[in-house]
Amino acid sequence: MTTRDMPKVELHLHLEGAAPPDFIRGLAKEKSIDISGIFNEQGGYRFGDFREFLRIYEAATEPLSTPEDYHRLTRAVLAESAAHGVVYSETFLSPDFCGGRDVGAWREYLHAIREAADQAEAQDGITLRGIVTCIRHFGPEKAREVALCAAETAGDWIVGFGIAGDERIGQPKDFAWSFDMAREAGLRLTAHAGEWGGPESIRAALHDLRVERIGHGVRAIEDLALVDELAENGIVLEVCPGSNVALRVYPNWRAHPIGQLYDRGVKVTVSTDDPPFFHTTMSYEFDRLADTFDWDDGVFETLNRTAAEAAFCDADTRARILKRLETA
Ligand code: ADE
Ligand code: ZN
Repeated sequence: MTTRDMPKVELHLHLEGAAPPDFIRGLAKEKSIDISGIFNEQGGYRFGDFREFLRIYEAATEPLSTPEDYHRLTRAVLAESAAHGVVYSETFLSPDFCGGRDVGAWREYLHAIREAADQAEAQDGITLRGIVTCIRHFGPEKAREVALCAAETAGDWIVGFGIAGDERIGQPKDFAWSFDMAREAGLRLTAHAGEWGGPESIRAALHDLRVERIGHGVRAIEDLALVDELAENGIVLEVCPGSNVALRVYPNWRAHPIGQLYDRGVKVTVSTDDPPFFHTTMSYEFDRLADTFDWDDGVFETLNRTAAEAAFCDADTRARILKRLETA
């Protein structure tokens, strides 16, 4: 089966992580930057364990050095998402890569990204919103600068604040200042947890950062009391099954806990994380879930509705997205 034409809502997508390898290769060539070592013989991104993934991800951002580069990147990424039926997407943006955490430079990058998103909305019918993201292994001090960039640009387009990166380094409480700053600026909150850390890591993100969504969160399944708590409190999980299988959090699709989490009443949603790195797309995710768990259209309608309701956008935008889902 294929779900390619079904309208979809995606909440967890890293903009640089969605960069097509040909796009990054072309940009590097234009700028005479040699990053050939990050590509494999087939022309895709080289791939090893999570640490290697982070290293290659960061190396791939090297040619992305101007607002215009991010304009082009945003257009390329949204064209690909729209081709797989995505009608609304939230993307993680890192001032670490966009202007080096300088507020003035960050504003220029953001302006270029928004302009590209407006063009994509008019042309491809996809709506984008941004979540400013600090990077855990860059440390709490840099995260504070990122939070300041986020607070300065919070509004109807920058709608959230989050944390990505290596969950095995540091503690959520080290980042509480940044999350408090973002919350006070009116931003909605999410944190990567329960991907490389177990249930305790999810509990700490909920307790110390007071987030309403968790990026991944799948390892909650190792503690059924926590699963019940997530379900009771309506915490939304941004689940990225293809990413988890590619990075060997789980050995295969059948072993992935998304089905159990859904059956236990947790608000799960589906996203691609860093699609070209993990050889996935939103329609591939939906197709594999349908095949693996025998899910029908009704389940996917629920997942999409959950995602639209948990989106950090304003009420008018949400109503528009829900209408597109309903009339499909
Ligand atoms: N940044 C990009 N992809 C990520 C992932 N899967 N986990 C943590 N940080 C990331
Ligand atoms: Zn992620």
